[in-house]
Amino acid sequence: MLVVKDLHVYYGLIEAVKGIDFKVDTGNIVSLIGSNGAGKTSTLNALLNSVKRTGEVNFLGYDTKRHLTHTLVQKGIALVPEGRRVFINLSVEENLKIGAYNNSENYEHLREQMYKLFPRLASKKNCMAGSLSGGEAQMLAISRALMSEPKLLMLDEPSLGLAPKIVGEVFDIIVRLKNEGITILLVEQNAYSALKISDYAYVLENGKIAMQDKAKNLIGNDDIRKKYLGL
Ligand SMILES: Nc1ncnc2c1ncn2[C@@H]1O[C@H](COP(=O)(O)OP(=O)(O)OP(=O)(O)O)[C@@H](O)[C@H]1O
Ligand SMILES: [Mg+2]
Repeated sequence: MLVVKDLHVYYGLIEAVKGIDFKVDTGNIVSLIGSNGAGKTSTLNALLNSVKRTGEVNFLGYDTKRHLTHTLVQKGIALVPEGRRVFINLSVEENLKIGAYNNSENYEHLREQMYKLFPRLASKKNCMAGSLSGGEAQMLAISRALMSEPKLLMLDEPSLGLAPKIVGEVFDIIVRLKNEGITILLVEQNAYSALKISDYAYVLENGKIAMQDKAKNLIGNDDIRKKYLGL
């Protein structure tokens, strides 16, 4: 589904991502793990062309180089950004409507699907998003991304700052989305939880891929256990 070759991301003179290659196969959950500043968020933003990048990014056979972010969303890539970033002064329902901006003919049907997936959002549909708990806001951010009916859903640290019980719920939802046929690219500092649900994973260090393998092999790898899993 996604093939990335020699991706570099620059912020002025700073090179945040230094030539990485990776791929995401249809139907898989693929994780990018790595510590603070490794380049995970920069990589996701580069896939949507929202930061300056070089290299090749091929999505479903398209070379995405010349595409604007909103065109890539239309083609089927969606991002749940780091820190959730819901529109706090708009209601839950208005946030969902914005998520469907390129897909308005399916809006009502999709909205009802989201309320089924996240019943807590249904009961708060007229509340301001700013009044939601961290877990509810994360669910809203995921729903908003799903309103564009993505083929590839990218999630940037969805578990950050959430209570352990809610973290479990968020990871369960990600598995459910995979089972419904959505391909997932997951960025997490909670490496253990991410690896447990992933098919394959890449370890980013200082803008480079330090290691890659099937997720279950990485969970068993001594270096990874010490450095990223605290085991
Ligand atoms: N807008 C920016 N301007 C300048 N440098 C930036 C900018 N955004 C990120 N960087 C730098 O690029 C590098 C990679 O940052 P990035 O946010 O991609 O890392 P990350 O792996 O997502 O980290 P975190 O786990 O903290 O979210 C860091 O050194 C960071 O300081
Ligand atoms: Mg980040």
